[in-house]
Amino acid sequence: MPVYRPPRIAASDITPRDIYMSRRKFMGTAAAGFVMAGAGSALAAPLTAAPSRFSTDETLTPKEAVTTYNNFYEFGTAKSDPAQNSGQFEPLPWSVKVDGMVGKPREFGIEELMKMQLEDRTYRMRCVEGWSMVIPWVGFPLSALLDQVEPLGSAKYVSFETVVRPEQMPGQTGFFQPLEWPYVEGLRLDEARHPLTILAVGLYGETLPNQNGAPIRLVVPWKYGFKSIKSIVKISLVEEQPQTTWKNSNAREYGFYSNVNPAVDHPRWSQATEQRIGDGGFFSVANRPTLPFNGYADEVASLYEGMDLKANF
Ligand code: MTE
Repeated sequence: MPVYRPPRIAASDITPRDIYMSRRKFMGTAAAGFVMAGAGSALAAPLTAAPSRFSTDETLTPKEAVTTYNNFYEFGTAKSDPAQNSGQFEPLPWSVKVDGMVGKPREFGIEELMKMQLEDRTYRMRCVEGWSMVIPWVGFPLSALLDQVEPLGSAKYVSFETVVRPEQMPGQTGFFQPLEWPYVEGLRLDEARHPLTILAVGLYGETLPNQNGAPIRLVVPWKYGFKSIKSIVKISLVEEQPQTTWKNSNAREYGFYSNVNPAVDHPRWSQATEQRIGDGGFFSVANRPTLPFNGYADEVASLYEGMDLKANF
C-alpha cells in the first residue's frame, strides 16, 4: 500500500454524537419503515436501524472524511480517487450469490438483504497504514445470512468476492493494475459467525456511498481495514483457507488473519500507534496507542486461544 500521508481535518469538523443521534432519530421517523429508493452517493436513501450494544460512543469521524478519504483500488489508488471516480458505478440492480458447502445455496437480491433486521453499529476502523476512524455503520450480522443457507459441517472458512466491472471501475482498466481482480477476502467460519462481524448496507443512517462499498460490504472491526471487502457479489463456504488479495500481493507484509496488533510491526512501519482522523486538526499526528484487536479483545481474543499471534499475523 502507498506511504500514508495524513489528511488535515480539523477537530471542529467532527459531528458531536448527540447531534448525530438526534438526527438519526429524526431520519428514523421520517423513513417510516424502509423504502429502497436507491443506493450510492447520488441516491442516498435513509435507513431505519435499531441501536446495538456493540456500538462505541467515541466521537464519530466526520461523514466528509469517511466518504472522501477511502481505499477502494477498483477506483484508483489515491485516497481521493474512490469518491471522485465512482459516480458511474451502478449499485442497483444487485444480488449476492451464497454457495459452496451449504445445504441451501441461493442468490439474495439486495432488496431482500436490506430488509434484514438492521442495526446501528458504530465501530472503530484501523487501517493497516496507521490511521483510524470511528464510523457509524448500518448493517446486520453476517451470521444471520449464513444461518439461512445452512453451512455444512465440512465448511471451515468463508470467502468473499468483489464485483469486476472495468467499464464502471476505472482502477480496473489501463496498463498498470495494482492488484489482481476480483478483490477477494476470507474469514474462518467462527470469525464470520462472531456477532461483531457485519454486512454493512449503510453509514451515517443512509445507504452506502459507492466509494464505501455500495451496496453491501463486510465490516470486521478487530481486523485491519483491508479485510473489510467492499461491493460483494459472492460469498462461498469452503474447507480450505481461502485466497486473499493483499496476502497474494505481498505475503510477507499482509497475513490471512490480520488482527489489529500493536505488538507486531508492519515490516515497513510501526503498528504501535495510530492517527485518529479528525484528532488534533492541522498538527494531527499518529500518537494514539493502537489497542490489541482494535479494542475488541474482550469480545474476540478467545477465538485465537493457543495460536501464535506473531507467527499467524
Ligand atoms: N475492498 C475492495 N474491493 N477494494 C479495496 O481496495 N480496500 C480495503 C477495504 N476494502 C478495498 C476494499 C482497505 S485497504 C480499507 S482500509 C477499507 O476497505 C477502507 O474502507 P472505507 O474506504 O470505507 O473506509
